[in-house]
Amino acid sequence: MTKILKINSISPEPSKIKEAADVIKRGGTVAFPTETVYGLGADALNPEAIRKVFKAKGRPSDNPLIVHIFDMDTFQLVARRPAKAVIDLINRFWPGPLTIIVKKKKVVPDIVTSGLDTVALRMPDNKIALSLIKKAGVPLVAPSANLSGRPSPTRGRDVIADLSGKIDVIIDGGKTRIGIESTVIDMTTSPPTLLRPGGLSVEDIEKVVGHVQRLSTSHENMPARSPGMKYRHYAPKARMVIVEGDSDAVQSDIIKLAEKGLKDGQKVGILAFHKEFRVEGCITKYAGSRCETVAGRLFDILRAFDKDGVDLIISEPYDGEGLKLGIADRLRRAAGQGKQ
Ligand code: TXA
Ligand code: MG
Repeated sequence: MTKILKINSISPEPSKIKEAADVIKRGGTVAFPTETVYGLGADALNPEAIRKVFKAKGRPSDNPLIVHIFDMDTFQLVARRPAKAVIDLINRFWPGPLTIIVKKKKVVPDIVTSGLDTVALRMPDNKIALSLIKKAGVPLVAPSANLSGRPSPTRGRDVIADLSGKIDVIIDGGKTRIGIESTVIDMTTSPPTLLRPGGLSVEDIEKVVGHVQRLSTSHENMPARSPGMKYRHYAPKARMVIVEGDSDAVQSDIIKLAEKGLKDGQKVGILAFHKEFRVEGCITKYAGSRCETVAGRLFDILRAFDKDGVDLIISEPYDGEGLKLGIADRLRRAAGQGKQ
């Protein structure tokens, strides 16, 4: 059975952290908050424990996991000697929403990296996460703590909805600060490659390491380079459509689509970023206009539409740089675009 542990995010109770860390040490699974989304943690050096993570999430075994660390000793344990650019990134952005791909050492089991010779590393900026990793005394794999394909969890209750009964412990540490996942950058290529836009803007990364190449979703090497990106992700149960175009056309197209859906007997949801749309009979959710607000609410809203039993979600388009790039990516994937 799954134990729920409520832990204070500002000053985590040591006894509760110890209880969760003991579960990790025994090869168990513990969901915990990070600054981006909740992760499903297990000992990154214990293949048996990691198997439980793949099983609980229903995650394909060819999608490698991020290893979460809290200090540089652990970095040296799992990664080969880092290049100067990697050290510069670490000094500037860790702890924080940046995952760095580097060459791995043998100690990292194949099941973590799906057999790749690289490993994804991240130091999360969250007190519960850092104290858990420290107390466990081992690096932790932590994919987002959702069922594979579902929107990532930003609150304890989302993890409970997806994984209760399937894992040992769920730490409820409140709402995560950012709301979308970390930015993933491959530092084994020259120039470095952005594999997943996320909580840290690629423009900020470029100020430290120079030009970063963007991997287009149609790139033929995509599955090999970024295994996780080939699956449909972040998806609500409802069918989701993003209406593109200039703003006047978008507004009237959304209304037309919504009215058609209603006429066909569907329950229709509208996801708005810029204006509130009120179409009689539809459920409208407003994600906000500041990108920080949108990032914080996006997955929550997708899950809320599911709870409302919506059949069709019609979304305004969303684009831009910085954090907006990550939001636009999640939105497209939720709508089943960018699928291979
Ligand atoms: O914000 C986050 O990164 C969250 C929190 C919990 O830390 N974790 C997360 O993990 O989003 P996950 O497993 O949902 O996404 C990991 C991504 C996947 O797209 C995976 O394919 C990619 O990182 N990845 C992991 N190891 C890789 C590697 N060696 N090479 C290329 N991509 C890798
Ligand atoms: Mg995920």
